Amino acid sequence: MNVIQLAQMLEFSQRGDERGHLVIVEGMEDIPFEIKRIFYIYGSDHDVVRGQHANRNSEFVLINVAGTSKVRVKDGKGNEAIYSLNRPHTGIYLPRMVWKDMYDFSEDSVLLCLASTHYDNSEYIRDYDEFVKLINMQE
Ligand code: TYD
Repeated sequence: MNVIQLAQMLEFSQRGDERGHLVIVEGMEDIPFEIKRIFYIYGSDHDVVRGQHANRNSEFVLINVAGTSKVRVKDGKGNEAIYSLNRPHTGIYLPRMVWKDMYDFSEDSVLLCLASTHYDNSEYIRDYDEFVKLINMQE
């Protein structure tokens, strides 16, 4: 399976009315996991690259609730895909064991990240060569 099949853009329910927009994201309803953690990234300069890691156990959904950014996803087997996050009612689902870079942040970017796990530094793989090695060991 390549990365293009692995990462998936999601479109969320919108319940806006004349009072404004409302977007709903429920664990196990709108995304394929229960949400254990949220964090958000803002104030990153345009030339900053964040992420640069893979996770052994965590699944994520990333949503630019304001502004825009891009996510590059690699499967460690030579496949990569780039996704633009540019609408508050769309997100990207990232499964376990994919390499991700977040970059090209607009000045007003607020990137909301929903995670399936509590934070555990030991499940982060921050060395790309190690990631590739682990992927190839899975074969
Ligand atoms: P890091 O994973 O490098 O951020 P990003 O992937 O967005 O570039 O995290 C930066 C620091 O914050 C690092 O010291 C770990 C810490 N951190 C937590 O303590 N809990 C969390 O949930 C996250 C995402 C990071």
